[in-house]
Amino acid sequence: MTDPLAAWHTEHLNFARLLDILEEQVAAFHMGETPNYALMGDILYYMRNFTDRVHHPREDVAYARLTELDPGVKLVVNRLLQEHRVLATAGDDLLTHVIEAGEDVVIPRAALEAATATYLVYYRHHLSTEERDVMPRAAQLLTEQDWAAVDAIVPVRPDPLFGSNVLERFETLRRQIDLDAKAARDQGPAPGTP
Ligand SMILES: [Fe+2]
Ligand SMILES: [Fe+2]
Repeated sequence: MTDPLAAWHTEHLNFARLLDILEEQVAAFHMGETPNYALMGDILYYMRNFTDRVHHPREDVAYARLTELDPGVKLVVNRLLQEHRVLATAGDDLLTHVIEAGEDVVIPRAALEAATATYLVYYRHHLSTEERDVMPRAAQLLTEQDWAAVDAIVPVRPDPLFGSNVLERFETLRRQIDLDAKAARDQGPAPGTP
């Protein structure tokens, strides 16, 4: 069985990679180039159909149990739960705009650029809060039984992008991710990294 904490963290790293690719597209926007709308759409589609349907609901269950064990996390957890709802709505809106832009519906460039940038900031903040404020407590307090309860309510589903069976519509995106990872490996560690 995979360690639920490790799997949870890996998913966050995966989402962070997708946000980086989204950011590259926003940068293209900013330079007056046409972003790859199909790639942006695929990222948002994944976020809506995997993250919002599996990752966040599993967190919702885990957070409820964590709050019972440590009422001290209630404030931060309530905010994170609310952010799950905001991220779902924001992702939906952004996906609609990106699809429209790809279909040449006239959308003010600045509006789409700003909406994407806001989504990036909000999402990254959400991930870092979970990593910093919640996951260490979850690692200390949640037991195997707690994780079994999470599995029972929201079962783990194969990841259609980062998993071994890539969904056809994600093949281009997966190739891009693998290329980026290879480029990062070929570059080696950043100067000053031990
Ligand atoms: Fe979350
Ligand atoms: Fe998360």
